[in-house]
Amino acid sequence: MCGIIGVIGTSHSASLILEGLKRLEYRGYDSAGIATLDKNTINRQRSAGKISNLEKHLETNPLTGLIGIGHTRWATHGPANEENAHPHSDGQVAVVHNGIIENFQKLKDELSDCNFESTTDSEVIVHLISYYLDRGDNLIDACRKMKARLKGSFALAVISLKENDTVIGICQGSPLAVGYGNGEMYLGSDSLALLPMTSKVSYLSDGDFCILKSGSVQFFNSENKNVKREIKELSIDASSVSKGSFDHFMMKEIHEQPQVIRDTLNALIDSSSRTSDLSQLNIDINDLSKITIVGCGSAYYAGLVSKYWFEEYAKIPVEVDIGSEFRYRNHPLPDKGLAIFISQSGETIDTLYPLRLCKEKGQYILSIVNSPESTIARESDSVIKTLAGPEIGVASTKAFTTQMVTLAVLALFIARKRNHLSEKKEQELVSALLELPEKISEILNAQDSINKVASQIKDTQNVLYLGRGHNYPIALEGALKLKEISYIHAEAYASGEMKHGPIALIDSHLPIVFIAPSDTLFSKSLTNIEQVSARGGRVIALTDEAGSEKLNGLHEYLIKLPKAHEFVHPILYSLPVQLLAYYTAVLKGTDIDQPKNLAKSVTVE
Ligand code: G6P
Repeated sequence: MCGIIGVIGTSHSASLILEGLKRLEYRGYDSAGIATLDKNTINRQRSAGKISNLEKHLETNPLTGLIGIGHTRWATHGPANEENAHPHSDGQVAVVHNGIIENFQKLKDELSDCNFESTTDSEVIVHLISYYLDRGDNLIDACRKMKARLKGSFALAVISLKENDTVIGICQGSPLAVGYGNGEMYLGSDSLALLPMTSKVSYLSDGDFCILKSGSVQFFNSENKNVKREIKELSIDASSVSKGSFDHFMMKEIHEQPQVIRDTLNALIDSSSRTSDLSQLNIDINDLSKITIVGCGSAYYAGLVSKYWFEEYAKIPVEVDIGSEFRYRNHPLPDKGLAIFISQSGETIDTLYPLRLCKEKGQYILSIVNSPESTIARESDSVIKTLAGPEIGVASTKAFTTQMVTLAVLALFIARKRNHLSEKKEQELVSALLELPEKISEILNAQDSINKVASQIKDTQNVLYLGRGHNYPIALEGALKLKEISYIHAEAYASGEMKHGPIALIDSHLPIVFIAPSDTLFSKSLTNIEQVSARGGRVIALTDEAGSEKLNGLHEYLIKLPKAHEFVHPILYSLPVQLLAYYTAVLKGTDIDQPKNLAKSVTVE
């Protein structure tokens, strides 16, 4: 949700900022811009659209200067045009902003003498800083006073002619990291953006303010106390953020699933006893009264799948909710409740706010995140890391399946601790999880049938996904993936609900994807398949050998998957729905890694 970068201390500042912005493009790609400070002038270049537009623009209009800031935008206030592109500047101050200024209109009214050039909420920050500078404050005090006036969430980078050897970084509700170079210093919305320049970073805490000079940084906390922030060494390999031989990050990330699932399992399972090992969790499991799970998008669907596992094996009531809904419900949360927050980025504001609410209400906070340094991780009582590695494609794939794997192990761990699961049964279920990487590789080696189905649905307007039990959330995920990257409208229902409404849509045009492995509910799914077929509907069946034998030709297309333990079906059946969306999008020629209007990290409400 907007990415920001700051660089100080190198004559290559503009090109480093451009490279950093490319790595932040997953946060938004509506417009981009860079401002540098050069010999007492602020120079800016901005372009609507993707960073490649800005890059072309910079080839003929290069920017020089030892100090600079840059931005890639996901529009919230005002259209995605050049006027609204960051950095905003009045010639004396330039600012890039990630987040939302909730009281911008009130501030804008107060500053009505200023010349506003954009319709963004962010530009008010520039004029506020200049207001204080013009009344004699130095840049740091002017920024502090400005910060005190803002309501909302923001990560900011500020430069000014008044102190042309400084970049100011401010973080409140949106993340910011400082990178340490050789005499150079960097600021970025995440550490991935800084990776090509440095592996040494510090993360700002919420409310922090930092002052970057060439070769040094000072941090101040929300009470304006000079504080130290730990310098961490990044262990991520810079090549993990490249596409390698794949055409898209999404396909690369789909193919990484066998390995990242293996890595995630290895960290959570005792391989000698084949049992779950989450002893690092400091929760009184026997006393647990309820589990509340919150996430958004795919993370929410991973939570929905786990509800079936927690209830089946750990015999514990579970409530799963979407972050944006959870926060505005007034729900009684019990004593000794466990609240689980699932997030790839660990920064999704709709997930973070419910976390804070649950904390206030005395819940034990456990987060399952892919970014261990994220705000959600930092604010949790315990964290389980999914070891998916950096996920760049906007449509989540490997993060989603590693979230499910983690939740599966957690469900088994809690089940055993509560004496609802024998060691033998746990070993059987853990073995099923351990077999996943191999079975996923089998699917990846036989993608022809999926590609063929994609060619049949690419021109349709609508697709319906149906699934039962713990596979129902995979139908939801399948529909989400198709919508996100191919722009085909798709909906998902629990198969049994079809007769209560969507059945009216069935005709010879509507493709209906059934997630129907041969499990204990297969006979029920088969009934639904028959109902569709009887009405001349187009059945695309995702099932295994045993299931396919029982289909009796009711299907138009069949995507056959390896036989697996019922427990892991939701994880395994995620693969064909990811691939179906991917191939359909390839045939439609859409921008798969950066679908229109979406962003990977959504840090606004
Ligand atoms: C965005 C992404 C989705 C993702 C959701 C939650 O909407 O496009 O792919 O599932 O955010 O993100 P999180 O980082 O919290 O998992």
